[in-house]
Amino acid sequence: MSERNVVWHEGGVTREQRPSLGATVWFTGLSGSGKSTVAVIAERLLVERGVTAYRLDGDNVRLGLNGDLGFGAEDRTENIRRVGEVARLFADAGVVAIVPVISPYRADRDRVRALHARDGLPFLEVFVDTPIEECERRDPKGLYAKARRGEIGDFTGISAPYEAPEKPELRLTPADGDPEQQAERLLALLETMVGEG
Ligand code: ADX
Repeated sequence: MSERNVVWHEGGVTREQRPSLGATVWFTGLSGSGKSTVAVIAERLLVERGVTAYRLDGDNVRLGLNGDLGFGAEDRTENIRRVGEVARLFADAGVVAIVPVISPYRADRDRVRALHARDGLPFLEVFVDTPIEECERRDPKGLYAKARRGEIGDFTGISAPYEAPEKPELRLTPADGDPEQQAERLLALLETMVGEG
């Protein structure tokens, strides 16, 4: 950094002095696995309980900040780097950042985890482990059908890779109940990790 003449400027407020403690809840899984559905419920439940939570959905962020990125490996890595940095800022500010993004590459997710560990910020990786057959059966946006017809390239699980997490803090499968029950399980774990939820 110093060769770019940029130096970290220290603030005058410690994390403990802020009104609340933040964290990042990172959802990873295939398109159609249910990440966004559980994330929406978790955000609502947290806000109802007085916790400042904010969702950074992959699709939504790609409509703004990451509107210049596509779905090749390099662009996905950059997508995750940026969302990860924004989540870290939210968590540092005292917000529970809720981040449903496919994030198919283990190394990209691990970099975001390391970024949080460096700053002592809680990071919870939630693997929404829905079998691809079920995701494709649901196909809520009709994207699997398009991918099968060759109308979308680099589609995760069909023509682009997905690397499952080895040690997620939480793994959710369809057997764990409906999305509301899955979100409750997540909040119980978050409570033990940061005393929130
Ligand atoms: S990520 O791989 O870079 O983490 P992200 O979560 O931001 O992906 O965006 C995934 C969303 O983009 C999907 O939910 C889907 O709606 C849309 N999408 C469009 N093209 C693709 C593609 N080739 N692969 C996966 N998702 C795609």
